[in-house]
Amino acid sequence: MKLSAPPAGWTLKSDVVVVGSGVAGLTTALQIRSHNLSVILVTKSTIDEGSTKWAQGGIAAALGPGDSPSDHKNDTLTAGAGLCDLGAVEVLVTEGPEAVRRLIARGAVFDKSETGEIALTREGGHLRDRILHAGGDATGAEVSRALLKAVQDDPGIEVIEHALVLDALLTEDLQIAGVTLHVIGEGSRDGVGQIETGAVVLATGGLGQVFSQTTNPAVSTGDGVALALRAGAKIADVEFIQFHPTVLFLGNRSKGQQPLISEAVRGEGAILVNGKNERFMSAAHPLADLAPRDIVAREIFRQMELEKRDHIWLDARSIIKFSERFPTIYQSCIEHGIDPSKDLIPVAPASHYASGGIRVDLNGRSSIPGLYACGETACTGAHGANRLASNSLLEGLVFGARIAFDIALSLKRDLEINNDQRTPFLIDTQARQEIQEIMTQGVGVLRSKESLEKALQELDRISKKTTTDAGIDSWETTNLFLLAKAIVLSALMREESRGSHRREDFPGAQDRWLIRLEQKLVNGEFVIKESPLTFQSREK
Ligand code: SIN
Repeated sequence: MKLSAPPAGWTLKSDVVVVGSGVAGLTTALQIRSHNLSVILVTKSTIDEGSTKWAQGGIAAALGPGDSPSDHKNDTLTAGAGLCDLGAVEVLVTEGPEAVRRLIARGAVFDKSETGEIALTREGGHLRDRILHAGGDATGAEVSRALLKAVQDDPGIEVIEHALVLDALLTEDLQIAGVTLHVIGEGSRDGVGQIETGAVVLATGGLGQVFSQTTNPAVSTGDGVALALRAGAKIADVEFIQFHPTVLFLGNRSKGQQPLISEAVRGEGAILVNGKNERFMSAAHPLADLAPRDIVAREIFRQMELEKRDHIWLDARSIIKFSERFPTIYQSCIEHGIDPSKDLIPVAPASHYASGGIRVDLNGRSSIPGLYACGETACTGAHGANRLASNSLLEGLVFGARIAFDIALSLKRDLEINNDQRTPFLIDTQARQEIQEIMTQGVGVLRSKESLEKALQELDRISKKTTTDAGIDSWETTNLFLLAKAIVLSALMREESRGSHRREDFPGAQDRWLIRLEQKLVNGEFVIKESPLTFQSREK
């Protein structure tokens, strides 16, 4: 299967193509340059768009006094609820501090304490203060700024903006040989073209737009994961969609990207309360309001159901100088008529992060030679069933460097592109909102066989809404459709509750499900397979 698209009208060549300009894409591009290879960096909107700049809380790394990679590992494994790949977690936590130092050397400036040390805060699931932050709650924006400047200063990185990547180009023996892409440009680079290369790194961020409400920006339509699926690569753990517990509730009719209220607000003392102004997290978990994210989201959802409400509240009035510590959050609350220093903040869970993605090894290699994935697009196994807060920017920093090293060792050149025989496929743009509603209704915080089967039936109905009208909207809608279907299939198959996958009909975790669900497309059909954990976590 491939996207219906006009034939490529122009061709470029590069040693490596990196798709995406968040922390994962920018880091990988810069690290590849340190091996002296040429890079084309393709980004869907402008280079400073994407999820990274929205990240508030920060970057987790064992840098504080008394902290250690081993403590960070234990917290990551606990959050991951038995499905973490131990090798990937060890890489993440041990290489993390050095990756953060590299980022600081590239110019990123983090907030300091009164003694001049890097200030560290705490978020859900962490037993220590280990979250670096910048601009109070604008960490992603600062990380982006520093990396973008380094990319823009490097003449060996060519940036192509307003470019939606479409499909992989493959050799006869199914190695990557390039990508096709659509560029809204001018002159010789307008419309569909292709880039020939020996290595493609997909770092397209998340797929939050599969749901009606998400913390992800509009560009997060999972283009990289969908491309990899169509190319025949394996994806894994896609049932584990993380719902952020505290997203500013703007009413049920508010769709698309919603304002995030960082977990760091709870890290600094805010508490969750229900409609009777009662704290409820202390009874639900020993870490109370700072329990792992899946547990807080589930408990909020339960309170909402008990009280028949569409949101609960976050009480942050105890935080002194809220507007200075959390300027971005303060501003977005004020814009919606809420003053966090005086008012309770209405919050509800919304889709936030895909813990799964393109299945990769410890060097970011997918199951297709030459095709790599990094950051949220990838499933390294480091997050298991539920990513620990602030491990996502860290993953992009750590694995971006490993991918660059691997490419430098194994890059193939002058590969011959095979004639593409895959069947073109395109879903009508009109189906986008329907897909989002189906997913929000049936595949949210709490799922069941009934809700999932209904979602699957409705997606099967949508699969017939095809079109020949190729364009950005229909390409993105097709990507959303494929990912929605993959998520539903895995969620239906996993008959247990673990991490961010909660089944009403199977409320507990079961050892039988200490396996990873991998999927791939074979002749246009999803094939789903149970795969043993490679380095199984010792925690359940
Ligand atoms: C947050 O600040 O709560 C989000 C950070 C993350 O997703 O790790």
